[in-house]
Formats: sequence, C-alpha cells, structure tokens
Amino acid sequence: MMHQLPVIFACSHQRGGNSDHAAVLFREGMRKAGGDAETVMLGDLDFNHCTGCLKCRKTENHRCMFAKKDGAQVLFEKIMHAPFTFFSSPIYFYHLPSRLKTFIDRGQWGFEAMNASSELITSLPERPAYACLVAGRPKGENLFEGGLLTLKFFLRFFKADLQPALTFRGIDNPQDLKNDPDKCRQLITAGAEAWQRSLTHER
Ligand SMILES: Cc1cc2nc3c(=O)[nH]c(=O)nc-3n(C[C@H](O)[C@H](O)[C@H](O)COP(=O)(O)O)c2cc1C
Repeated sequence: MMHQLPVIFACSHQRGGNSDHAAVLFREGMRKAGGDAETVMLGDLDFNHCTGCLKCRKTENHRCMFAKKDGAQVLFEKIMHAPFTFFSSPIYFYHLPSRLKTFIDRGQWGFEAMNASSELITSLPERPAYACLVAGRPKGENLFEGGLLTLKFFLRFFKADLQPALTFRGIDNPQDLKNDPDKCRQLITAGAEAWQRSLTHER
C-alpha cells in the first residue's frame, strides 16, 4: 500500500534559509501540477546515532534497537511507502548536515534487510527520489560528490532511485536562492515534473 503523499525532507539545521525555500518551491511545482506533498523538517529532529551493534543483522524484520525510541523508523517507513521523495539540503563541510547523516546511519537496518532479501524490501516497487543540494562556495568540482554518493547509496536500500540532483553553488546567504529566479524556476519545474511522472507510473 503506497503512502498517500510524496514526502519532502527539509534537512538544513536553520529554518527559513535556502534549502527550506527549495523545499517550498518543489512543493509549489507539485501543487501547480495538481499534486501535493507532506513536508518533514528533518533538520529539526534529533535521532539516536547508530552504535554499530549490528543487532539489526539478526532481529526480526531487521529492526533497529532504537526503532521505538525516536522518530527515525517512522521516517524510514515514509520513504518506503511514498510514491517519491525529495531531499533538500545544504552542504556542510563537503557533505550532508549531521542530523541527516545520523538519520542515514540509522538506515543500516535497511542495508541488512536488503542484503538478506527481506520481503520488507523486495515487495517494494521501485520509486524515484529527487534532491536539491545548495552550497555557499561558488566553485569546487567535488562540492556535492560526498553528499550525493551517500544519499544515492542510502536510498537504494529502500528501492528508491536518486535521480540527477539539482546542485546549486554560490548560494550562501539565506535569501540567495529567493533572489535567483532561474534556480527558483528550475525547482518549480522539477516539482511539477516529479508529480506528473508519478501519475504516469501509477497507470
Ligand atoms: C556548518 C556549515 C558548514 C558549511 N560547509 C560548506 C562547505 O563545505 N562548502 C560550501 O560550499 N558551503 C558550506 N556551507 C555553506 C552552506 O552550504 C550555505 O550557506 C547554504 O546555502 C546553507 O543552506 P540553508 O540556508 O538551507 O541552511 C556551510 C555552512 C555551515 C553552517
């Protein structure tokens, strides 16, 4: 059973900045195309960190020992059942912000479930995932490499396939994205197209 709405994860630790705005615009595009989404302010959430205990290799349904102790499991289930997801995040030190990274590390149970061909994973349809990453530096070939690689690998555990991401350089002050109409348009278009594609996929 599909989760009813696509899910947008806003992953900055600061509210009202560039990646929050990217999330708003992507959702605006979806709405223009007749859809909508649920937005999760992941950057506000703290999770227990993976301790590397590897108990999820053996537990029933590869359940993490923290599954009932914080909100991470509920969010994994959203990723698993949403028709698609969108991650909007700043780059912190050439990578993803620590709260998002802590959440991703907690996805280790999904890695174990995938490796064991658990029905929890094999029964999922393939779904696309989308992302927009913003970075303050105007240059730097490898600015987005670490973040994109991690996001792609993590989402694959849950049979979500990260599509080519929007990566915006030179977006630093909280108003920079708002002041760049071309990038704003790209986000609205990406949201609209993601929604339209999901309708085609359902048929
Ligand atoms: C802790 C921290 C680390 C950062 N590291 C980088 C970096 O490695 N490269 C870069 O280009 N920008 C870096 N930035 C700048 C942010 O990516 C940039 O300001 C971004 O627009 C912030 O997005 P937000 O408004 O959604 O929070 C960093 C910012 C912070 C707060």
